[in-house]
Amino acid sequence: MRAELIDGKAIAKSIREEVARDVRGLVERGVTPGLTVVLVGDDPASQIYVRSKERACIEAGMNGRTIRLPADTPQAELMDLVDQLNADPTVHGILVQSPLPKHMNEEAVVYRIDPAKDVDGFHPVNVGKLLIGARDGFAPCTPAGVQELLVRSGVQTSGAECVIVGRSNIVGKPMAAIMMQQADGANATVTICHSRTKDLAAHLRRADIVVAAIGRAEMITGDMLKPGVVVIDVGINRVEDASDPRGYRVVGDVHFDSAAEVASRITPVPGGVGPMTIALLLRNTVRAAERSLRAAERSLGA
Ligand SMILES: NC(=O)c1ccc[n+]([C@@H]2O[C@H](COP(=O)([O-])OP(=O)(O)OC[C@H]3O[C@@H](n4cnc5c(N)ncnc54)[C@H](OP(=O)(O)O)[C@@H]3O)[C@@H](O)[C@H]2O)c1
Repeated sequence: MRAELIDGKAIAKSIREEVARDVRGLVERGVTPGLTVVLVGDDPASQIYVRSKERACIEAGMNGRTIRLPADTPQAELMDLVDQLNADPTVHGILVQSPLPKHMNEEAVVYRIDPAKDVDGFHPVNVGKLLIGARDGFAPCTPAGVQELLVRSGVQTSGAECVIVGRSNIVGKPMAAIMMQQADGANATVTICHSRTKDLAAHLRRADIVVAAIGRAEMITGDMLKPGVVVIDVGINRVEDASDPRGYRVVGDVHFDSAAEVASRITPVPGGVGPMTIALLLRNTVRAAERSLRAAERSLGA
């Protein structure tokens, strides 16, 4: 293997340590950052995500709370809960775990969350702020985590050709918005590819940085990449594997072995982007708490 590994676990750990330090500073000033996660229904993957978010909050010294609602909860009840959380000064971040049951309108729920508490960064106000480069919004945690991986690994992004594969609202589009900004860790020339892109490999072969967010196991192979490219693999896919006691293993959207022969740096799956998402969620929550404290101090001073 030629490529150096980008160790997302280690980088996420240092971000979580920084978050814990910031939390201690806030607690000394009388505020404990609080994240409330709302889980509707009993989707097994969501249960795991929610538990790990709660555990990570508590480890960082924050108030991590999960509110569990039955799958048949009426939409109006969830909206009322969001209103209560919006009004609760001890709640700095609100996250309604996706996917919601089919009878619910997910978009309406996201729109209802106070943008100042939308630590997932999916509210249109935060999406807009990200696009215009305003610094007082919240960037979605997974693409923000990818940027941190690049910055903390010393990858030169300024002037780089960055090809993003995938245009979802949670990864691909915000990733593009982040990398095109006139800012440190950005300033890239961005291309977004998707399922209608003609000749994906031709785009990939120009790239200095590839971000794969497709949801298709090992789709990008080494022969599609330029030597020396930095590969960030967001994908999380289960593939059958009889040799694994679970009967499956988890792989990314990039064929790791062939890509690692060509790339200069590459993220593993698991252990690359995955751990960054929670670290950035904690950081966004601390930022929300800092902003609310500053606002309270300003209003006292006024
Ligand atoms: N590490 C983490 O914390 C984390 C967080 C979120 C997601 N993920 C993982 O990241 C992956 C992407 O997630 P997502 O939510 O963005 O998925 P998504 O909403 O399904 O979007 C996938 C994107 O890939 C594009 N695509 C599909 N087939 C393609 C092809 N053959 N060639 C080029 N583009 C193609 C789609 O194009 P169209 O728009 O044309 O359909 C779409 O834009 C998944 O594996 C997911 O599990 C990981």
